[in-house]
Amino acid sequence: MAAVGAVSRALAELHARLAVVDDGAVADYIPQLALADPAAFGLALVSMDGHRYTAGDALAPLTIQSVSKPFVYALALAELGLDAVTAHVGAEPSGEGFNAISLEPGTGRPANPMINAGAIVTTSLIPAADPAARFERILACLSAFAGRRLDVDEAVYASESRTGDRNRALAYLMRGAGSLAVDVEEAVDVYFRQCAVRVTAADLAVMAATLAGGGVNPVTGEPVVPELTAERVLAVMATSGMYDAAGDWLLRVGLPAKGGVSGGLIACSPARFGIAAYSPPLDAVGNPVRGVLALRELSERYALHLM
Ligand code: DON
Repeated sequence: MAAVGAVSRALAELHARLAVVDDGAVADYIPQLALADPAAFGLALVSMDGHRYTAGDALAPLTIQSVSKPFVYALALAELGLDAVTAHVGAEPSGEGFNAISLEPGTGRPANPMINAGAIVTTSLIPAADPAARFERILACLSAFAGRRLDVDEAVYASESRTGDRNRALAYLMRGAGSLAVDVEEAVDVYFRQCAVRVTAADLAVMAATLAGGGVNPVTGEPVVPELTAERVLAVMATSGMYDAAGDWLLRVGLPAKGGVSGGLIACSPARFGIAAYSPPLDAVGNPVRGVLALRELSERYALHLM
C-alpha cells in the first residue's frame, strides 16, 4: 500500500464511514459474548516492516474464537507435517455453517480445520503429555504470532464450556467415527480455552502479518512457523476461512481470511501486510459485518485481490 500517512488516513476514513453501519447481530449462543458492545469497531494493519497502523477500538479486548483456527492449524502442520495432519482433517471447503456436522464417509475426517469439527480435531493433534500442556503449547504459539504473552478470558471460557454442547456432540460423532483420537471432554476443554484467548485487533493484525510474511513475526523478528507452513495455512484460509461465504469472499475480496463469532476478522496480503477488524455484529453466515465491508472496500480500492 501507499506511504505511512496515506495508510493511516485510509484506515481512519474507512473507520469513520463504516462505524455508522448497524446491520447484523451480536452472537448470543455463548451468553458471555452477548455482552459485547455492538458499536465497538477497530481496524489495524501491520506491514512487512513491522509498522502498525490503527483506527478506532484497535486496542479493545476480544476473545479470539475461530480466528485461532488457522494459527493452531499452523502449529499442527509445523509439528506433524502435512500428511499426518491431513490424515485426520481434510482441506475441502464444507459449503456449510461453522458448526456443521462434518464426517467424511469412511474416514470420519472433518472437511477442513476452519470449521468447529476440524478445529477440535486439529487442537487434539498438538503433541503434549496432557491437556494442560497442550493448551500451554497453543497459548505459547498464539502469543508468538501476536508478539506478546496472551491470556485467557476466564468468563468467556466458562460461558462456552457451560453451553458448548453442540461442540461436544460434534466431538462425540468424530470420536465414534474414529477421527478424534483423544477423550471428548479433554478435546473440547482445550478447544474452548483456545477460543477464549484474549486479543485485540492490533494483536490480530500482527498475527495475520506473520502468516502473510511467511511465518516470521514482522514486529518481533521471530520465526514462528516455517514458510511452507504459513503458505499452506493461507491456502486453506482462502478456500475455507469464511465458511459458507468463502466463495463470495474470494470473488469480492480475494485474500486469505478468517472471521470469528466475537467479531474478529483477519485477512492476509502475502508479502505485503496483515489486517484485522473488530466489530461484534455478525451477518447470517457468522462473519463480522463491518469487517467484511471494510475488506471489500480496501480490496477494491487498492487492487488487493490475489487472482
Ligand atoms: O466453537 C464455537 O462455537 C466458538 N468458540 C467459535 C466459533 C466461531 O468463532 C465461529 N466463527 N464464526
